Amino acid sequence: MRLNVLVVPGDGIGPEVTGQATQVLRAVADLGGYDFRFREMPIGGVAINQQGTPLPPETLEAALESDAVLLGAVGDNEFNSLPPERRPEAGVLQLRKALGGFANLRPSFAYPTLASNSPLRPEVVEGADILFVRELLGGLYFGEPRSWDRENKQAWNTMRYTREEIVRVARVAFEVAGKRRKKVTSVDKANVLEVSQLWRATVTEIAQQYPGITLEHQYVDACAMHLMNTPRNFDVVLTENLFGDILSDEAAVITGSLGMLPSGTIGGSVNLYEPVHGSAPDIAGKGIANPLGAILTAAMLLRYSANLEQEAQMIETSVRTVLEQGYRTADLARGDKQTHVSSTSEMGQQVYSVLNEIIDRRQSRHAV
Ligand code: IPM
Ligand code: MN
Repeated sequence: MRLNVLVVPGDGIGPEVTGQATQVLRAVADLGGYDFRFREMPIGGVAINQQGTPLPPETLEAALESDAVLLGAVGDNEFNSLPPERRPEAGVLQLRKALGGFANLRPSFAYPTLASNSPLRPEVVEGADILFVRELLGGLYFGEPRSWDRENKQAWNTMRYTREEIVRVARVAFEVAGKRRKKVTSVDKANVLEVSQLWRATVTEIAQQYPGITLEHQYVDACAMHLMNTPRNFDVVLTENLFGDILSDEAAVITGSLGMLPSGTIGGSVNLYEPVHGSAPDIAGKGIANPLGAILTAAMLLRYSANLEQEAQMIETSVRTVLEQGYRTADLARGDKQTHVSSTSEMGQQVYSVLNEIIDRRQSRHAV
């Protein structure tokens, strides 16, 4: 099997973490005899500095020709004073739009070995396993009109959804819930916003076609609280673009570090995979970033773009194993003097070694 992956490392810690993720993908390719090909192109701040634009046409073209895109992170303080359309983030938004993926899957999982990393009590986070389905191409991020009228000191953005945009992402949520614990929590602000009223009515209607799935609705403010109080009550959380952006960062508290969270965007012509964390300019280049979010993102890439479910699970098992072995990057060590703090590459290397052991064991089992 051949798989063409376009890697767009981006800014800050992006290159460090995608480097580890591609190592792990190469291991899967070598041992499974797959032909994975990697190309690397600029996006975000590095692209602005090299070519004056956050999404150069060559990068976009390569993305559209690829089978999957793996993104690191974008953003840097040097661009803070620029208007949104000229910032590094615009590159990611343009890429998302061009690839067409509208359903951004963001799992948030309470690893037993990281229970003490969460500021929440272990008995609260224990067993939590949530999958956010964040709508990625609509809402305030893309709605028109938008602008900043400097003269009159006012600015506006538009939260807009069509019924069709809600239907297609709702279907994804109900489908994935069918393979999980069969519950969808749809999150909106229907007590205030017309868009949310359309959202709620549409999701309720689509739910009729999935009689095996339980649907509940929550207002986004209440959801923000319930996520911290009773995270185990959630299975699939379906929500619009900005609410999903905010709630998925909040859900990192359940796992213990934003550096752990992966994501994959499906439904378009090419799927896009990006860890949930940002470019973290404050720690960039120091070799201390947590690569596990990017590595778990690579697992999602294998699951959704290569149909390699077993290999995806082997990567996830390897991550769980290195955590059980006590490996911790700085974000996971929480200042504990007893813990040996691993660098980005040590952590990546350890996942790579465990993965190789798992693959070897499986191959020798098949040989007898
Ligand atoms: C995310 C990020 C992006 C978003 C930025 C970088 C545009 O925060 O993927 O969560 O807001 O979607
Ligand atoms: Mn975000």
